[in-house]
Amino acid sequence: MTLAIIGGTGLTRLRGLEIARREMVHTPYGEASGPITHGQLYGRPVMFLARHGYGHTIPPHQVNFRANLWALQQAGAERVLAVAAVGGIAEDLHPGRLAFPDQIIDYTHGRDHTFFDRDLAEVVHVDFTHPYDADLRARLQAAADAAGIDARPNGCYGATQGPRLETAAEIRRMARDGCDMVGMTGMPEAGLARELELPYATCAVTANWAAGLHGQAEVSMADIEENLRTGIDRVRALLGSLIPA
Ligand code: HPA
Repeated sequence: MTLAIIGGTGLTRLRGLEIARREMVHTPYGEASGPITHGQLYGRPVMFLARHGYGHTIPPHQVNFRANLWALQQAGAERVLAVAAVGGIAEDLHPGRLAFPDQIIDYTHGRDHTFFDRDLAEVVHVDFTHPYDADLRARLQAAADAAGIDARPNGCYGATQGPRLETAAEIRRMARDGCDMVGMTGMPEAGLARELELPYATCAVTANWAAGLHGQAEVSMADIEENLRTGIDRVRALLGSLIPA
């Protein structure tokens, strides 16, 4: 099962990846965020795509999610691990901690969110009761346990539009809705993966406390960068445990 990794903010390159080739896939949905990098990581074939482009220049609401997922599948991906920075809403999602969400709420708007929108023989609906792949989540948790990495095994991801961060009231509403974390790219990515029947899971990296929490006057970009560095080091260790397993 060839694993594709979609790298988010803080992960535009997979250190240790022995690069075999880069593949530019042209899709019916336009250009992906960049070429797909094929290579070997820990002795296994892996594909990598930087969600925001290799230079981190594509903002969350401009990511061509359809092209990215379509290109990965076309290039041979059989399952997808999305790495994504989030703000922590739940008390235990402190900056630097990883989480493997099991639910998602979509607060985004105006994004191209489906493959089933034109030239249809008939209307298509897909089941999305459990948006994340249970087997890949279990593997992630086992890999975290084996590597001694503290990770929250579940949680509800709230996907916001960005690129601005949220207001304190928006975060209070999201907490009431049951969101444990907030990020800007979880949707439509997860929904599109389901439409393509690609097993998909997210490794969320908590970059900051969400807006207004824990007496925070404002969200500091410098803190986000610092916490992401720590968090992404944990993701790299996690991959070292996940991929060879
Ligand atoms: N909100 C939305 N997306 C994010 C955040 C946040 O606080 N931190 C990292 N990605």
